[in-house]
Amino acid sequence: MAIRPVLRLGDPRLRLASAPVQRFDTPELHALVADLRDTMAERAGAGLAAPQIGVHLRVVIYGITANPRYPEAPPIPETVLVNPRLTRLGEEEQLGWEGCLSVPGLRGEVRRWQRLRLEAFGPGGEPIAAEVEGFHARVVQHECDHLDGLLFPDRLVCTERFGFSEELRAAGLIP
Ligand code: NI
Repeated sequence: MAIRPVLRLGDPRLRLASAPVQRFDTPELHALVADLRDTMAERAGAGLAAPQIGVHLRVVIYGITANPRYPEAPPIPETVLVNPRLTRLGEEEQLGWEGCLSVPGLRGEVRRWQRLRLEAFGPGGEPIAAEVEGFHARVVQHECDHLDGLLFPDRLVCTERFGFSEELRAAGLIP
């Protein structure tokens, strides 16, 4: 287990598509999950995807327990998704502000699906299926975007609603 450096926007490795995990329940996969967990915890992130620590496999972790970065967010239990697949449910969309450990100090407003169906595997190969909505759905979409080389600034609603957290907070745009 280790805290790993998080790649930042501009690093071309963040733009690569990640490959599906082929073998489950291996020491390598469990070590990757432990590194993601430690790194996310140390940086007080809401989520982290393997390519953000330079590992191009389709693995993400997320979870929120009274996160100071997201004071308004409802708690989400820690979840690890391997080879996730997302399917939009319904037509409804949501607008919300996002940040990213790979885009430190900045926030931007992004439109996401309001509800989705999630299918994935746990690190041991156990199937996971769930329907999620709201902030939980937002976090899942943000993390899974990383697996395709996408970051939240690619999905900004408008570049004027993008900036440094301190300035946005001073302007009353984010809590
Ligand atoms: Ni991110």
